[in-house]
Amino acid sequence: ARQRSYTIAVLPGDGIGLEVTPPALRCLEAAAERFGFTLNFRHFEWASCDYYLKHGKMLPDDWKRLLQECDAIYFGAVGDPARVPDHISLWGSLLRFRREFDQYINLRPCRLMRGVPSPLANAKPGSIDFLTVRENTEGEYSSIGGMIFEGTERETVIQDTVFTRVGVDRVIRYAFERARARPAKKLTSATKSNGISITMPYWDQRVAEIAKEYPDVKVDKYHIDILCAHFVLRPHIFDVVVGSNLFGDILSDLGPACTGTIGIAPSANLNPVSKRTDPDWKPSLFEPVHGSAPDIAGKGIANPVGMIWAGQMMFEHLGETEAAAAVLAAIENVLGDAQDRLQKGGEDVLTPDMGGKGTTEGLGKAIEIALKTSQ
Ligand code: NAI
Ligand code: MG
Repeated sequence: ARQRSYTIAVLPGDGIGLEVTPPALRCLEAAAERFGFTLNFRHFEWASCDYYLKHGKMLPDDWKRLLQECDAIYFGAVGDPARVPDHISLWGSLLRFRREFDQYINLRPCRLMRGVPSPLANAKPGSIDFLTVRENTEGEYSSIGGMIFEGTERETVIQDTVFTRVGVDRVIRYAFERARARPAKKLTSATKSNGISITMPYWDQRVAEIAKEYPDVKVDKYHIDILCAHFVLRPHIFDVVVGSNLFGDILSDLGPACTGTIGIAPSANLNPVSKRTDPDWKPSLFEPVHGSAPDIAGKGIANPVGMIWAGQMMFEHLGETEAAAAVLAAIENVLGDAQDRLQKGGEDVLTPDMGGKGTTEGLGKAIEIALKTSQ
Protein backbone atom coordinates (compact mmCIF):
# COMPACT_ATOMS: atom_id res chain seq x y z
CA ALA A 1 0.00 0.00 0.00
CA ARG A 2 1.11 3.55 -0.68
CA GLN A 3 2.28 5.44 2.36
CA ARG A 4 -0.04 8.03 3.81
CA SER A 5 1.54 11.43 3.49
CA TYR A 6 0.49 14.96 4.44
CA THR A 7 1.83 18.36 3.55
CA ILE A 8 1.63 20.77 6.47
CA ALA A 9 2.07 24.54 6.26
CA VAL A 10 4.09 25.56 9.32
CA LEU A 11 3.72 29.21 10.38
CA PRO A 12 5.43 29.80 13.73
CA GLY A 13 4.69 33.56 13.73
CA ASP A 14 6.16 35.65 16.55
CA GLY A 15 7.45 35.45 20.12
CA ILE A 16 6.94 32.10 21.79
CA GLY A 17 5.33 30.82 18.58
CA LEU A 18 8.91 30.49 17.33
CA GLU A 19 9.92 28.60 20.48
CA VAL A 20 7.07 26.08 20.81
CA THR A 21 6.99 25.13 17.13
CA PRO A 22 10.29 23.14 16.80
CA PRO A 23 9.71 20.78 19.77
CA ALA A 24 6.07 20.33 18.70
CA LEU A 25 7.14 19.37 15.17
CA ARG A 26 9.50 16.76 16.61
CA CYS A 27 6.61 15.25 18.61
CA LEU A 28 4.41 15.10 15.51
CA GLU A 29 7.19 13.47 13.51
CA ALA A 30 7.71 10.87 16.23
CA ALA A 31 4.00 10.01 16.13
CA ALA A 32 3.94 9.92 12.33
CA GLU A 33 6.88 7.55 12.23
CA ARG A 34 5.30 5.27 14.79
CA PHE A 35 1.97 5.09 12.96
CA GLY A 36 3.38 4.77 9.48
CA PHE A 37 2.70 8.05 7.72
CA THR A 38 4.88 10.94 6.61
CA LEU A 39 4.65 14.65 7.24
CA ASN A 40 6.10 17.13 4.76
CA PHE A 41 6.51 20.43 6.54
CA ARG A 42 6.52 23.62 4.46
CA HIS A 43 8.04 26.31 6.64
CA PHE A 44 6.85 29.88 6.09
CA GLU A 45 8.27 32.94 7.82
CA TRP A 46 5.36 35.21 6.88
CA ALA A 47 2.31 35.89 9.04
CA SER A 48 4.79 37.40 11.49
CA CYS A 49 5.72 40.91 12.58
CA ASP A 50 9.32 40.45 11.40
CA TYR A 51 8.03 39.78 7.92
CA TYR A 52 5.74 42.80 8.16
CA LEU A 53 8.57 45.13 9.19
CA LYS A 54 10.69 43.88 6.27
CA HIS A 55 7.99 43.83 3.58
CA GLY A 56 5.25 46.21 4.72
CA LYS A 57 2.65 43.45 4.60
CA MET A 58 1.85 40.41 6.70
CA LEU A 59 1.50 37.96 3.81
CA PRO A 60 3.04 37.46 0.36
CA ASP A 61 0.66 38.00 -2.56
CA ASP A 62 0.40 34.28 -3.34
CA TRP A 63 -0.30 33.21 0.27
CA LYS A 64 -3.65 31.70 -0.56
CA ARG A 65 -2.27 29.37 -3.19
CA LEU A 66 0.68 28.41 -0.97
CA LEU A 67 -1.61 27.44 1.90
CA GLN A 68 -4.22 25.78 -0.28
CA GLU A 69 -1.54 23.40 -1.57
CA CYS A 70 -1.14 22.07 1.97
CA ASP A 71 -3.41 19.61 3.78
CA ALA A 72 -3.52 21.70 6.96
CA ILE A 73 -2.08 24.83 8.54
CA TYR A 74 -0.10 24.58 11.77
CA PHE A 75 0.10 28.02 13.32
CA GLY A 76 2.12 29.26 16.32
CA ALA A 77 1.06 32.73 17.45
CA VAL A 78 1.17 36.16 15.90
CA GLY A 79 1.70 39.53 17.56
CA ASP A 80 4.43 41.90 18.66
CA PRO A 81 2.47 44.84 20.01
CA ALA A 82 5.56 46.93 20.84
CA ARG A 83 6.52 47.04 17.14
CA VAL A 84 3.32 46.37 15.15
CA PRO A 85 -0.25 47.22 16.25
CA ASP A 86 -2.30 44.08 16.95
CA HIS A 87 -5.07 45.04 14.54
CA ILE A 88 -2.52 44.92 11.72
CA SER A 89 -0.81 41.68 12.71
CA LEU A 90 -3.93 39.69 13.64
CA TRP A 91 -6.31 41.04 11.02
CA GLY A 92 -3.58 40.78 8.40
CA SER A 93 -2.97 37.08 9.01
CA LEU A 94 -4.99 34.79 11.23
CA LEU A 95 -8.32 36.53 10.74
CA ARG A 96 -7.83 36.54 6.97
CA PHE A 97 -7.18 32.80 7.01
CA ARG A 98 -10.33 32.19 9.05
CA ARG A 99 -12.44 34.34 6.77
CA GLU A 100 -11.05 33.45 3.36
CA PHE A 101 -10.94 29.72 4.06
CA ASP A 102 -14.43 29.95 5.63
CA GLN A 103 -13.24 28.18 8.79
CA TYR A 104 -16.68 28.35 10.34
CA ILE A 105 -16.03 26.10 13.32
CA ASN A 106 -13.79 27.00 16.22
CA LEU A 107 -13.26 23.91 18.30
CA ARG A 108 -11.60 23.72 21.71
CA PRO A 109 -11.31 20.71 23.98
CA CYS A 110 -11.43 21.31 27.74
CA ARG A 111 -9.96 18.48 29.70
CA LEU A 112 -8.63 18.48 33.22
CA MET A 113 -5.45 16.43 33.16
CA ARG A 114 -3.51 14.71 35.88
CA GLY A 115 -0.64 16.90 37.06
CA VAL A 116 -2.18 20.18 35.94
CA PRO A 117 -3.53 22.25 38.81
CA SER A 118 -7.06 23.54 38.17
CA PRO A 119 -8.17 26.92 39.50
CA LEU A 120 -11.37 25.14 40.58
CA ALA A 121 -10.72 23.95 44.12
CA ASN A 122 -12.56 20.62 44.02
CA ALA A 123 -12.09 19.57 40.41
CA LYS A 124 -10.55 16.12 39.96
CA PRO A 125 -8.55 14.96 36.91
CA GLY A 126 -10.91 13.37 34.41
CA SER A 127 -13.95 15.13 35.85
CA ILE A 128 -13.84 17.88 33.23
CA ASP A 129 -13.85 16.68 29.64
CA PHE A 130 -15.87 18.63 27.12
CA LEU A 131 -15.66 20.40 23.76
CA THR A 132 -16.71 23.94 22.96
CA VAL A 133 -17.94 24.55 19.41
CA ARG A 134 -18.04 28.21 18.40
CA GLU A 135 -19.55 29.70 15.26
CA ASN A 136 -16.59 31.45 13.67
CA THR A 137 -17.87 33.60 10.76
CA GLU A 138 -21.06 35.57 11.50
CA GLY A 139 -23.42 36.30 14.39
CA GLU A 140 -22.56 39.20 16.64
CA TYR A 141 -19.19 39.81 14.93
CA SER A 142 -20.57 41.29 11.73
CA SER A 143 -19.26 44.45 10.13
CA ILE A 144 -22.76 45.72 9.40
CA GLY A 145 -23.43 48.99 11.13
CA GLY A 146 -21.93 52.41 11.56
CA MET A 147 -21.95 55.74 13.27
CA ILE A 148 -23.88 58.92 12.54
CA PHE A 149 -23.89 62.37 14.10
CA GLU A 150 -20.31 61.71 15.16
CA GLY A 151 -18.99 64.20 17.70
CA THR A 152 -22.42 65.68 18.46
CA GLU A 153 -24.87 65.02 21.24
CA ARG A 154 -26.83 62.81 18.88
CA GLU A 155 -23.81 60.56 18.30
CA THR A 156 -25.27 57.13 17.45
CA VAL A 157 -23.65 53.74 16.84
CA ILE A 158 -25.33 50.62 15.54
CA GLN A 159 -23.92 47.15 14.88
CA ASP A 160 -26.16 44.40 13.62
CA THR A 161 -26.09 40.72 14.49
CA VAL A 162 -26.35 38.42 11.48
CA PHE A 163 -27.67 34.87 11.80
CA THR A 164 -28.10 33.10 8.49
CA ARG A 165 -29.90 29.77 8.23
CA VAL A 166 -26.84 28.31 6.49
CA GLY A 167 -24.45 29.66 9.12
CA VAL A 168 -26.55 28.62 12.11
CA ASP A 169 -27.49 25.18 10.79
CA ARG A 170 -23.99 24.13 9.81
CA VAL A 171 -22.43 24.87 13.20
CA ILE A 172 -25.32 23.24 15.09
CA ARG A 173 -25.21 20.18 12.86
CA TYR A 174 -21.43 19.90 13.31
CA ALA A 175 -21.88 20.06 17.11
CA PHE A 176 -24.51 17.31 16.97
CA GLU A 177 -22.15 15.14 14.94
CA ARG A 178 -19.38 15.64 17.52
CA ALA A 179 -21.79 14.83 20.35
CA ARG A 180 -23.01 11.70 18.57
CA ALA A 181 -19.43 10.45 18.27
CA ARG A 182 -18.73 10.75 22.00
CA PRO A 183 -19.75 8.30 24.75
CA ALA A 184 -21.95 10.76 26.67
CA LYS A 185 -23.79 11.90 23.51
CA LYS A 186 -24.92 15.19 24.99
CA LEU A 187 -25.20 18.65 23.46
CA THR A 188 -25.64 21.90 25.38
CA SER A 189 -26.68 25.02 23.50
CA ALA A 190 -25.80 28.53 24.70
CA THR A 191 -28.69 30.94 24.31
CA LYS A 192 -30.11 34.19 25.65
CA SER A 193 -33.61 34.06 24.24
CA ASN A 194 -35.00 35.78 27.30
CA GLY A 195 -33.10 38.99 26.50
CA ILE A 196 -32.13 38.88 22.83
CA SER A 197 -35.61 38.36 21.50
CA ILE A 198 -35.16 37.83 17.75
CA THR A 199 -31.91 36.09 16.91
CA MET A 200 -31.67 33.87 19.98
CA PRO A 201 -35.18 32.38 19.71
CA TYR A 202 -34.24 31.65 16.09
CA TRP A 203 -31.08 29.88 17.26
CA ASP A 204 -33.14 27.84 19.77
CA GLN A 205 -35.63 26.96 17.06
CA ARG A 206 -32.87 25.69 14.72
CA VAL A 207 -31.37 23.61 17.55
CA ALA A 208 -34.78 22.05 18.23
CA GLU A 209 -35.36 21.39 14.53
CA ILE A 210 -31.94 19.78 13.91
CA ALA A 211 -32.24 17.78 17.14
CA LYS A 212 -34.94 15.71 15.38
CA GLU A 213 -32.20 14.28 13.16
CA TYR A 214 -30.25 13.17 16.24
CA PRO A 215 -32.66 11.30 18.52
CA ASP A 216 -29.69 9.53 20.14
CA VAL A 217 -28.19 12.83 21.40
CA LYS A 218 -29.48 14.42 24.60
CA VAL A 219 -29.95 18.18 24.23
CA ASP A 220 -30.24 20.96 26.74
CA LYS A 221 -29.82 24.73 26.68
CA TYR A 222 -28.85 27.42 29.15
CA HIS A 223 -28.82 31.18 28.99
CA ILE A 224 -25.24 32.34 28.57
CA ASP A 225 -25.00 33.98 32.01
CA ILE A 226 -25.97 30.92 34.02
CA LEU A 227 -24.05 28.73 31.59
CA CYS A 228 -20.86 30.58 32.53
CA ALA A 229 -21.66 29.97 36.19
CA HIS A 230 -22.15 26.26 35.51
CA PHE A 231 -18.78 26.06 33.70
CA VAL A 232 -17.19 27.01 37.01
CA LEU A 233 -19.58 25.32 39.46
CA ARG A 234 -20.54 22.10 37.63
CA PRO A 235 -18.11 21.61 34.73
CA HIS A 236 -18.56 17.83 34.85
CA ILE A 237 -22.09 18.05 33.40
CA PHE A 238 -20.89 19.16 29.96
CA ASP A 239 -19.99 17.08 26.91
CA VAL A 240 -20.30 19.24 23.76
CA VAL A 241 -21.28 22.90 24.08
CA VAL A 242 -22.30 24.97 21.04
CA GLY A 243 -22.60 28.75 20.86
CA SER A 244 -22.81 31.70 18.49
CA ASN A 245 -19.69 33.70 17.68
CA LEU A 246 -19.90 35.93 20.79
CA PHE A 247 -21.12 33.31 23.26
CA GLY A 248 -18.72 30.74 21.86
CA ASP A 249 -15.85 33.21 22.19
CA ILE A 250 -16.57 33.66 25.88
CA LEU A 251 -17.09 29.96 26.57
CA SER A 252 -14.03 28.89 24.60
CA ASP A 253 -11.79 30.97 26.86
CA LEU A 254 -13.63 30.21 30.09
CA GLY A 255 -13.62 26.44 29.48
CA PRO A 256 -9.85 26.02 29.08
CA ALA A 257 -9.27 28.49 31.93
CA CYS A 258 -11.15 26.10 34.24
CA THR A 259 -8.73 23.33 33.34
CA GLY A 260 -5.50 25.11 34.23
CA THR A 261 -2.93 27.15 32.36
CA ILE A 262 -3.59 28.85 29.04
CA GLY A 263 -0.28 27.31 27.95
CA ILE A 264 -1.78 23.86 27.35
CA ALA A 265 -5.03 24.74 25.55
CA PRO A 266 -5.35 23.98 21.82
CA SER A 267 -7.75 25.27 19.22
CA ALA A 268 -8.87 24.30 15.72
CA ASN A 269 -10.40 26.55 13.09
CA LEU A 270 -12.17 24.15 10.80
CA ASN A 271 -13.79 24.10 7.44
CA PRO A 272 -15.11 20.55 7.58
CA VAL A 273 -17.53 20.60 4.61
CA SER A 274 -15.66 18.82 1.90
CA LYS A 275 -13.03 16.22 1.06
CA ARG A 276 -9.49 17.15 0.05
CA THR A 277 -10.26 16.05 -3.51
CA ASP A 278 -13.27 18.40 -3.92
CA PRO A 279 -12.58 21.58 -5.88
CA ASP A 280 -14.14 23.72 -3.10
CA TRP A 281 -12.01 22.16 -0.34
CA LYS A 282 -10.27 24.65 1.96
CA PRO A 283 -7.56 24.09 4.57
CA SER A 284 -8.23 24.16 8.31
CA LEU A 285 -5.92 25.75 10.86
CA PHE A 286 -4.59 24.36 14.15
CA GLU A 287 -3.04 26.57 16.81
CA PRO A 288 -2.53 26.93 20.54
CA VAL A 289 -5.05 29.21 22.29
CA HIS A 290 -2.30 31.43 23.66
CA GLY A 291 -0.67 34.37 21.89
CA SER A 292 2.99 35.28 21.36
CA ALA A 293 3.55 36.08 25.08
CA PRO A 294 6.10 38.90 24.69
CA ASP A 295 6.58 38.92 28.47
CA ILE A 296 8.30 35.50 28.42
CA ALA A 297 9.50 35.31 24.80
CA GLY A 298 13.18 34.48 24.36
CA LYS A 299 13.52 32.84 27.77
CA GLY A 300 12.89 29.27 26.62
CA ILE A 301 10.24 28.65 29.27
CA ALA A 302 7.03 28.74 27.23
CA ASN A 303 4.77 25.73 27.69
CA PRO A 304 4.81 23.76 24.40
CA VAL A 305 1.77 21.60 25.26
CA GLY A 306 -0.81 23.93 23.65
CA MET A 307 1.09 23.68 20.37
CA ILE A 308 1.58 19.91 20.62
CA TRP A 309 -2.07 19.35 21.52
CA ALA A 310 -3.07 21.51 18.52
CA GLY A 311 -1.07 19.03 16.43
CA GLN A 312 -3.12 16.24 18.02
CA MET A 313 -6.30 17.98 16.77
CA MET A 314 -4.70 18.26 13.33
CA PHE A 315 -4.05 14.50 13.28
CA GLU A 316 -7.69 13.89 14.15
CA HIS A 317 -8.80 16.15 11.33
CA LEU A 318 -6.51 14.33 8.89
CA GLY A 319 -8.05 11.03 9.96
CA GLU A 320 -4.96 9.81 11.84
CA THR A 321 -6.97 8.94 14.92
CA GLU A 322 -4.50 6.44 16.37
CA ALA A 323 -1.65 8.93 16.22
CA ALA A 324 -3.95 11.56 17.72
CA ALA A 325 -4.82 9.31 20.64
CA ALA A 326 -1.12 8.53 21.20
CA VAL A 327 -0.17 12.21 21.30
CA LEU A 328 -2.90 12.95 23.84
CA ALA A 329 -1.84 9.97 25.96
CA ALA A 330 1.81 11.08 25.83
CA ILE A 331 0.88 14.59 27.00
CA GLU A 332 -1.28 13.21 29.81
CA ASN A 333 1.34 10.72 30.96
CA VAL A 334 4.22 13.19 30.96
CA LEU A 335 2.25 15.85 32.84
CA GLY A 336 0.68 13.31 35.18
CA ASP A 337 3.99 11.63 36.06
CA ALA A 338 6.00 14.84 36.35
CA GLN A 339 5.81 15.05 40.15
CA ASP A 340 6.78 11.40 40.48
CA ARG A 341 9.71 11.85 38.16
CA LEU A 342 10.89 14.85 40.17
CA GLN A 343 10.63 13.00 43.48
CA LYS A 344 12.74 10.18 42.06
CA GLY A 345 15.50 12.68 41.30
CA GLY A 346 14.59 13.16 37.63
CA GLU A 347 14.42 16.37 35.66
CA ASP A 348 11.61 18.88 36.35
CA VAL A 349 9.71 18.95 33.07
CA LEU A 350 6.88 21.26 34.18
CA THR A 351 7.27 24.78 32.82
CA PRO A 352 6.86 27.72 35.26
CA ASP A 353 3.21 28.35 34.27
CA MET A 354 2.48 24.87 35.72
CA GLY A 355 4.51 25.54 38.85
CA GLY A 356 7.79 23.91 37.79
CA LYS A 357 11.27 24.94 36.69
CA GLY A 358 11.18 23.17 33.34
CA THR A 359 11.91 24.49 29.86
CA THR A 360 10.18 24.43 26.50
CA GLU A 361 12.82 22.07 25.13
CA GLY A 362 12.77 19.79 28.20
CA LEU A 363 9.01 19.32 28.25
CA GLY A 364 8.83 18.92 24.46
CA LYS A 365 11.59 16.31 24.58
CA ALA A 366 9.85 14.36 27.36
CA ILE A 367 6.66 14.13 25.28
CA GLU A 368 8.65 13.18 22.19
CA ILE A 369 10.38 10.38 24.10
CA ALA A 370 7.05 9.19 25.53
CA LEU A 371 5.75 8.94 21.96
CA LYS A 372 8.77 6.96 20.84
CA THR A 373 8.92 4.53 23.74
CA SER A 374 5.34 3.56 24.61
CA GLN A 375 4.16 0.44 22.79
P1 NAI B 1 -0.75 35.72 25.52
O1 NAI B 1 -1.57 34.49 25.40
O2 NAI B 1 0.36 35.88 24.58
O3 NAI B 1 -0.19 35.81 27.00
C1 NAI B 1 -1.04 35.92 28.14
C2 NAI B 1 -0.29 35.47 29.41
O4 NAI B 1 -0.17 34.05 29.42
C3 NAI B 1 1.14 36.03 29.48
O5 NAI B 1 1.45 36.32 30.81
C4 NAI B 1 1.97 34.87 28.98
O6 NAI B 1 3.29 34.86 29.48
C5 NAI B 1 1.19 33.65 29.42
N1 NAI B 1 1.34 32.56 28.46
C6 NAI B 1 0.77 32.48 27.23
N2 NAI B 1 1.16 31.37 26.60
C7 NAI B 1 1.99 30.72 27.44
C8 NAI B 1 2.72 29.50 27.36
N3 NAI B 1 2.67 28.71 26.26
N4 NAI B 1 3.48 29.13 28.41
C9 NAI B 1 3.53 29.89 29.51
N5 NAI B 1 2.86 31.06 29.65
C10 NAI B 1 2.10 31.47 28.63
O7 NAI B 1 -1.77 36.95 25.38
P2 NAI B 1 -1.45 38.53 25.35
O8 NAI B 1 -0.30 38.85 26.24
O9 NAI B 1 -2.74 39.20 25.56
O10 NAI B 1 -1.04 38.84 23.84
C11 NAI B 1 0.31 38.92 23.38
C12 NAI B 1 0.32 39.04 21.87
O11 NAI B 1 -0.22 37.84 21.30
C13 NAI B 1 -0.53 40.17 21.32
O12 NAI B 1 0.12 40.71 20.21
C14 NAI B 1 -1.83 39.49 20.93
O13 NAI B 1 -2.52 40.18 19.91
C15 NAI B 1 -1.30 38.17 20.42
N6 NAI B 1 -2.27 37.08 20.44
C16 NAI B 1 -2.26 36.23 19.37
C17 NAI B 1 -3.08 35.14 19.34
C18 NAI B 1 -2.97 34.23 18.18
O14 NAI B 1 -2.00 34.24 17.44
N7 NAI B 1 -3.95 33.38 17.97
C19 NAI B 1 -4.02 34.84 20.42
C20 NAI B 1 -3.92 35.76 21.54
C21 NAI B 1 -3.07 36.84 21.52
MG1 MG C 1 -11.22 34.91 22.80
